[in-house]
Amino acid sequence: MASNERFIEVYPDKEALSLAAVERVIYEANISISEKGFFTIALAGGSTPKRLYELLASSDYRDKTDWSKWHIFIGDERLVPFSSPDSNFGMAKSILVDNVAILEENIHPIDTVLGNMAAVDYEKKLKALYDRLGISGLDVILLGLGSDGHTLSLFPGKQAVTEKVSFVVATEHGILPPLVDRISITRATVEAAKLALFLVAGEDKSIVVEQIVHNSPSVTRPASLIAPTDTLSVCWMLDQAAASRLK
Ligand code: 6PG
Repeated sequence: MASNERFIEVYPDKEALSLAAVERVIYEANISISEKGFFTIALAGGSTPKRLYELLASSDYRDKTDWSKWHIFIGDERLVPFSSPDSNFGMAKSILVDNVAILEENIHPIDTVLGNMAAVDYEKKLKALYDRLGISGLDVILLGLGSDGHTLSLFPGKQAVTEKVSFVVATEHGILPPLVDRISITRATVEAAKLALFLVAGEDKSIVVEQIVHNSPSVTRPASLIAPTDTLSVCWMLDQAAASRLK
C-alpha cells in the first residue's frame, strides 16, 4: 500500500497557482541540494507551466537557489526542432533555461533529431545520469493535464499508457496539434521519482479533474494512473476553475 497520499491544492487563479508552484519547486530544489548536493527535475510542456518558468527566472526568485546544482530534463516532446514554437524544450529554454545559470552539461533535452530513436537515446542518458549521481529516480516531475485525461504524451488508447518497463517511449500524437509523433517518459519514470507535481488551470479541465478525483484510476484517463507509492508523492495544484466541479 502507498504510504504517501495524493494531495489536492486549490488556488484562486492561475497566478496564485504559479506563485505557489514556484515556492514549492524552489523549496524542493533547496532541500535536495542541501541533502545530496544536486536537484533533478523534469519540466512539462503545455501552456500552464509557462508562468512558473517566468517566475523561476525572475529577479524575485532566480537568486533563491543554486542553479549550478540543477539538472533539467523534459517530460515529453514533439518530434520537432527546438526552434519550433511547438517544441516543449524550446519553450522552457527560452523562458527559463536561457535566463538562469544552469550548467550546459546539466541540461538534458530529448534529441529530436534522432526521430523515434530519441526514446532509446533518452532512456540511456537518464540511466547513465542515475548511475553517475547514484539515484534511482528524479526529484520532481512537473506534469500537465489534457482535457482528454492525458499527461506527458500518454494519450488515451495508445500503447505508451500501459508501458511498464521502458523509462522513455516513442508514441503517436494525441489530440493536440501539430499531429506529429512524440517522445515521452513513462509511468515507470514518474513512479521512480520523489514528487509528481500536476499544474492544472482552466475551466476546460474541470470535467476531467472531477472524473480523476472521484473515480478509480483508469487507462482511459492516463493522468489518473499517476498514483502515490511508498516513495512517490503526488500533488495536484489546481486553480479554482479547474477544481470547480469537485465536491
Ligand atoms: C504538451 C504536453 C501535455 C500538456 C497538457 C496540458 O506537449 O503540451 O505533453 O501533456 O502538459 O496537454 O497542457 P496545457 O498546460 O496547455 O493545458
